[in-house]
Order: sequence, then structure tokens, then C-alpha cells
Amino acid sequence: MITEDLKIDISTLSSWLESNRPVTVLDVRPRSEREEWAIPGSIHADVYDRLKANDLNAFDKIALDKSMPVVTVCTAGKTSLKAAALLKEKGFEVYSLAGGMKAWNFAWSTAEVVLNGVKIIQVRRSSKGILSYIIGSHDEAIVLDAALDPQVYLNIANKNGWMIKYVTDTHIHADYLSRTRELAKASIATHVLIDTARVDYAYSPVSNGECLKFGKTSLQVIHTPGHTMESTSFRLGDDVVFTGDTLFVDGVGRPDLKADNDEAIRRSKLLYTSLQRLLTLNPKTFVLPAHLATAVPFDGMLISATIEKLKDKLDMLKLTESEFVKYTTSRIPPTPPNYLRIAGLNKQGSYEGYVPADLEAGANRCAIA
Ligand SMILES: [Fe+2]
Repeated sequence: MITEDLKIDISTLSSWLESNRPVTVLDVRPRSEREEWAIPGSIHADVYDRLKANDLNAFDKIALDKSMPVVTVCTAGKTSLKAAALLKEKGFEVYSLAGGMKAWNFAWSTAEVVLNGVKIIQVRRSSKGILSYIIGSHDEAIVLDAALDPQVYLNIANKNGWMIKYVTDTHIHADYLSRTRELAKASIATHVLIDTARVDYAYSPVSNGECLKFGKTSLQVIHTPGHTMESTSFRLGDDVVFTGDTLFVDGVGRPDLKADNDEAIRRSKLLYTSLQRLLTLNPKTFVLPAHLATAVPFDGMLISATIEKLKDKLDMLKLTESEFVKYTTSRIPPTPPNYLRIAGLNKQGSYEGYVPADLEAGANRCAIA
């Protein structure tokens, strides 16, 4: 029988995963949907059609570990509830993830590091590998690429005794709705963007080379066009460079979104130049990107690599400009779901009337690897 007590919410499942509590996450969606995106560590039971047909024997030939709880997952939390009810009949401790993958879209965790007195907290939306940052020095902080409810960042700031002085985005995102503007409104932070950003709302412009001072440190603005024309990196001395979607730990940003072939080639050349510029930074500088090409595990491990490690690991960074352009433009993945609508809303600075879970659900397609 289906009952409400079979449901588990996303924050409980997130905390179980973060604390390494044994759990079987059982994905009951059709295989094609799972191939698009899935919860890291989950397993698949190909029972979707049987569950839809109310087949009471759907799980008869599926072997599952009875020593730990099972959390069933589907797209929106309905079919998984049927699955949970069947497994409960079989004696499992079982829960259905309320809201399914649409809720999973918002699951997040953090990882952090302290370098020369500056604390960097990487706030990771697991589902699409989205990485945002709150960087604190003394009693002030900056937030880069806010991707979750503003309260998440305000709570982190409060806990650390920080006042958020600036908020910004490394670029106009096309794969998730920026929460930077909301965070600016919910705090006393100044919303800054590079002066080349073409958006429909007012912001405080900063130019290439300028420094954003906060606490006892500052971030230097480095214009790194290519992925988008306004793409910006932020350098924290010789310790860290926040590279947005320009340079990842597993690839580089795609230069093709909202671009025809000629424009993609032009942006690819700009991306090459921007990457070369980043590669001249101190080799020990840590690269902290705005994305990971895969879902982020709940392991507390900072997603980062030094410039010298990436130079060694990523062969595409060793190419000449013409080879790089050929390489990137020949390996372009399918576009992210709803990217035109999302980029448009981010340019507009408001997503009123839209449901973020509906727009943002789906595969992570930010990188060329
Ligand atoms: Fe991007």
C-alpha cells in the first residue's frame, strides 16, 4: 500500500550520502532517461514499464541487498512510490525520493580549503556538476556564480561571521538559472559583472585587471572570453584562479552556444588565447572551475587541480591555435536542455513565472573533454 511515510526528502538523502550511510539508491526510470543523468552510485532496475502497468511482480527477478535501506527514484516521485510500496511488501526498509530527479536537481554539498587565511567554500550542486563559491577573508566575503537559493549562501556567511560584500557571475550561464541577482537583493552585496556583460539589468561594472577588495584580500578580474564573450576569471594572488567555464579540471568550456559555425570558430580562437593567458599563471596556482563534467559525489573533496597538473593532464592545452580550434569545434556535445531559454532569463535577470526544476532538469553538457 502506498503511504506518505514511504517518502524521503532530498535533504535527508543528501545527508545520508554525505555521511556515507549505507543505502541503495535504486533508479526505476527508463534506461534512456538514466543515460541522460543519474545519481552517483545509484543502481538501475529496468522495471519502469512493469511498474506503470501495476505489475505486482515487477521486482521478482531483481536482487537487492536487504541489509541496508533502499531509496527508489524516478523522474518526479510517483512511479518510485509504487516501487517502494512493492519493495516494502517484500520486507525491505524502503523510501521513495519525494520529487524524484526534479528534486535531486537541487541536492548540494560543500568542500572547503583555507589558503593564506582566505577560506574558500565550494558549494556543489551535484546533479549537473555546478560549482559556486563563497570566499571569505576576515569579516567579508564574495560569492561567485550563486546557483542555489540565496539563503544557502547567507547561512554559510552567517556561520563564518562574513558579510557578503560582492556577488558576481563568471559569465551568463546557459545551463542553470543564476541566483546571483536574488542573492544581491537578499543581502547588502554589490552585484558586479565585467563591463562587457550584455544584460538587461543594472550592475556595477568592473574591468579587466581591476581588483575586488574584501576583508584582507582581493580578487583580480581577468577577462577570459571564448566560452562566452563576457567570460571572466578571478585570481586570488598566486593561490587560486576561479576559471568559470573557461578551464575545467577535465576539459575546457564549449565555444559554440548561441553561435553559428563561424562564430564558434572565432570564439574557439578567443578561448585558446584566454587559456594561454591562464596557463602563464604561477604553475602552483589552484584552478577552481564553475563546473565538473560529471555529477559531484558527496565526498567533501574539493574539485580542483593546479595549473601545472592541468598542463600535463589535458592534451588539448598542448595544441597550437589551429589544432585547438579544429579539436574543440569537432567535439561539440549536444546542447544543454533549454539553454536558449535559460541564457535569455539570465540575461533578463529574472525567471519569474518559470519553475527552475523544470528548466534545469537534465544532462550536464558544459564541457569539451
Ligand atoms: Fe557556461
